[in-house]
Amino acid sequence: MYKIVEKRKLAPDIYSMDVLAPRVAESAKPGQFVIVIADEVGERIPLTICDYDKEKGTVNIVIQAVGCSTRKMVSFNEGDYFKAFVGPLGNPSDYVNEDIEEVKKRKYLFVAGGVGAAPVYPQVRWFHEHGIDVDVIVGAKTKDLIILEDKIKDVAGNLYVATDDGSYGFNGMVTGLIEELVVNQGKKYDYCIAIGPMIMMKFVSLLTEKLGIKTIVSINPIMVDGTGMCGACRVTVGNETKFACVDGPEFDGHLVDFDEALKRQTQYKDEELKKLKEYEE
Ligand code: FES
Repeated sequence: MYKIVEKRKLAPDIYSMDVLAPRVAESAKPGQFVIVIADEVGERIPLTICDYDKEKGTVNIVIQAVGCSTRKMVSFNEGDYFKAFVGPLGNPSDYVNEDIEEVKKRKYLFVAGGVGAAPVYPQVRWFHEHGIDVDVIVGAKTKDLIILEDKIKDVAGNLYVATDDGSYGFNGMVTGLIEELVVNQGKKYDYCIAIGPMIMMKFVSLLTEKLGIKTIVSINPIMVDGTGMCGACRVTVGNETKFACVDGPEFDGHLVDFDEALKRQTQYKDEELKKLKEYEE
């Protein structure tokens, strides 16, 4: 059992939780995720690791209540326990294992959409801890859905904010802001790391391909076992079948078959809606 030691509301329907899981905190690296099961009848929910404190033994996760299981999870309070908290799973981001001098030569742009700000934060912090400034774009539909702005600002070289409705920062989508920075302001980037809704990662990847910027995306599909056995998380990358849980979750955004991934993501929509209705009744 894994105790929730702190719970905070970040935005409507979006919560941050610190969970006591010392073994996960000890070995977590940027880019990795955990699978959380709320209770005896809960399904397995993959969530990216937002932060970890090796001394306290806590792992921070950010949950957006969208379906039955995530609604149940955010109803838990400080002092409550999750049944399972498995991880860290997946591979750390590539740069973690690369020659740091090579990494230092590159200019990185991070693009976070919605709750994608949560997995982007530990990555930007990693760069900050290694003395590297990176630019970060955080985007959301509206101002009240922008999360972790202050935390990211503390570790980013430059932080840019975009809202679809123009209620805060750049007026438009993150792709519009990338164009503004690269095309209009002449900024140069060697790598773009984009994490957020699948549709956002698709359009960021299409744009960066045109702009000639190598792009990494973090795929968060439906998962069951999280160990490469069930095939639920399969995604086509460069015409090859990959499993996001063991081969990813990060892949070359210019090679991912996003249309297939988008289709697979919605294949259980009717069942999910039915379950959510039952839960709310
Ligand atoms: Fe089962 Fe990845 S979740 S293979």
